[in-house]
Amino acid sequence: MQKLLIKGRRELSGSISISGSKNATLPILAATILAKSVTLKNVPLVKDIFTMLELLEFIGVETKIQYNKKNIVLKNQKKDINTLAPYRLVKTMRAGVLVLGPLLTKYKKAKVSLPGGCAIGTRPVDLHLLALKKLGAQIKIKNGYVIAQAKKGLTGCKIRFPSISVGATENALLAAFSAKGITTLSNCAIEPEVLDLINFLKKLGSVIKVIGRKIIIAGTNKINEKVNHKVIFDRIEAGTYLVAGALMGKKLFIKNIVPKILKIEVETLKKMGAKIKIKKNIIYVSRNKSLKKINISTKPYPGFPTDLQAQLMVLMTQAKGVSKIQENIFENRFMHVPELKRMGAKIQIKNKTAYIYGPTKLIGAEVMATDLRASVSLVLAGLISDNRTILNRIYHLDRGYESLEAKLKRCKADIKRAKYEI
Ligand code: UD1
Repeated sequence: MQKLLIKGRRELSGSISISGSKNATLPILAATILAKSVTLKNVPLVKDIFTMLELLEFIGVETKIQYNKKNIVLKNQKKDINTLAPYRLVKTMRAGVLVLGPLLTKYKKAKVSLPGGCAIGTRPVDLHLLALKKLGAQIKIKNGYVIAQAKKGLTGCKIRFPSISVGATENALLAAFSAKGITTLSNCAIEPEVLDLINFLKKLGSVIKVIGRKIIIAGTNKINEKVNHKVIFDRIEAGTYLVAGALMGKKLFIKNIVPKILKIEVETLKKMGAKIKIKKNIIYVSRNKSLKKINISTKPYPGFPTDLQAQLMVLMTQAKGVSKIQENIFENRFMHVPELKRMGAKIQIKNKTAYIYGPTKLIGAEVMATDLRASVSLVLAGLISDNRTILNRIYHLDRGYESLEAKLKRCKADIKRAKYEI
């Protein structure tokens, strides 16, 4: 096990290049089950991606990583495919459940482990299963597995999601890809990562239309032989470094992004007083000593992302007055709060709202986190703290942030990785 050692209060300057999006890559990798030969570019080489590749290999898709180019080449040409996603590969990475849709539509059967509980909430898969059932699948749950069959194949239909889910929208799209006829999905998630999956499915040969939160897809069995796709940038990683810049930046610039996708993030930081300038595809961010309080509620895109809530909370500890965060997506996503409080933050939680009192001086401590975004919020807290912060259990960070310490070090942060001694 490893830990991060951070000495705070160093100004951050220089450039940070944003990696490809983990949450866009994962469903696209699941979609390669539908493909023949794919080259994916701009892939973030993080733990969750390696786990998904292991799952694809287990199923029978050949995968080859070109480390220097950050490309992955995938070939799906074996006749003998395994339509199983075992527990050991789905338990650490919920996105494993996304192989259900493509396996079912292409091979007419799938057995996929239920992902189980998760630190940030119960995270059920009922909406995924609702969509698959409507498309004609017979589904049983047995011994912790979803066992799905569609002997005559899936058939296009109209599905209205009772609530918005990124994963369920993606699984439904993947299943509808080879269903007979037209599928219309309503009340869909339209996160940029969902739209990137749609772009990929179009390259594979599908015809898809997005009208607001409605997605119409025409099923097809004609698959293009060779497909190249460059994954979009990781807007959560970009948002995280924008917050870092608002905390400690001295002309920090964030590159390899598309600013219009970061509208709500930029607006929120500007309202708080961060100095931000956008020039083409680069955002410059600098610290402002007098930050203003703000109230935010997490919402599906284009609303403020739940995945950036923990990071923004650290900035709120430095703003004057009482800021509020209402978490509407997950029921248990304030687990970073006790750790931030140990570093001196003044935060109260009432139901699904956190009240953050600022400005408060943070002081380094030994901390640990139980999920990816909570971990990175503690890194940000460490960057502004007096003394040293020791962050344990950093395997959460390695699941989703590519080269975190290298990127921060290049901008003059004092951060290093060390062995964890018990
Ligand atoms: C994805 C992202 C995750 C992000 C989340 C919300 C990936 C790999 N992960 O997760 O980083 O935090 O979107 O933006 O892309 N729900 C149900 N039943 C279901 C499915 C979901 O009740 O069948 C609920 C969830 O418990 C949650 C809400 O719907 O409360 C939204 O979850 P969802 O959008 O599905 O998140 P994920 O796709 O798991």
